Amino acid sequence: MELLKKKIVEEGIVLSGQVLKVDAFLNHQIDPLLMLEIGKEFKRRFEGDPITKILTLESSGIAPSVMAGLEMNVPVVFGRKHKSLTLTDDLYVQSVYSYTKQQTNEVTVSRKFLSAEDRVLIIDDFLANGEAALGLANIVKKAGAQVAGIGIVIEKSFQPGADKLREAGYRVESLARIASLDNQKLQFVNEPAA
Ligand code: G4P
Ligand code: NA
Ligand code: NA
Repeated sequence: MELLKKKIVEEGIVLSGQVLKVDAFLNHQIDPLLMLEIGKEFKRRFEGDPITKILTLESSGIAPSVMAGLEMNVPVVFGRKHKSLTLTDDLYVQSVYSYTKQQTNEVTVSRKFLSAEDRVLIIDDFLANGEAALGLANIVKKAGAQVAGIGIVIEKSFQPGADKLREAGYRVESLARIASLDNQKLQFVNEPAA
């Protein structure tokens, strides 16, 4: 997605540790118009698939997911990382380990909002090791629902997540794919250094 790649080149910051900082438009400040275009692109990529719901993870997955939900006319559910104050019996619970943050979150989704009739598009902002997406896919399985695919805003293709998800049989649609962040330089997949 050219608009997204342009934004990454212009406003992304390559941090040591192979992390791309995009807090100017995705992770802290949010660019609504870019999010809307991202929503349209996810709709385009999954056109013809009878998706009934989008599932994401708080917090940074929510903005692109809401715009995709708007475009696709389906509700958006986000997995919570923090326990809600209300009762916990009616929840799907899934441990998700983050290599990047070296911590485990107990992700929860209310049973009310995911059922066996659903066909679910999973969306997240970043794909690194794939643990968040696999955890969300497990929640979909626990609901007896189907995973239509996984939509990612920024895939770090040099980390294992993308291969892991594709090997597990999931359709992965990433709007920007980063081949390398070595030497403080950003390189997209199949393209010269930006
Ligand atoms: P994984 O799900 O693919 O295994 O990724 P991982 O656990 O390693 O990622 C943990 C958190 O770090 C996630 O955010 C993820 O979006 C974020 N992350 C991973 N790589 C990058 C990167 O290169 N740049 C940025 N900006 N973020 C990255 P989170 O903990 O869910 O936080 P939130 O932003 O959604 O609140
Ligand atoms: Na994030
Ligand atoms: Na995230």
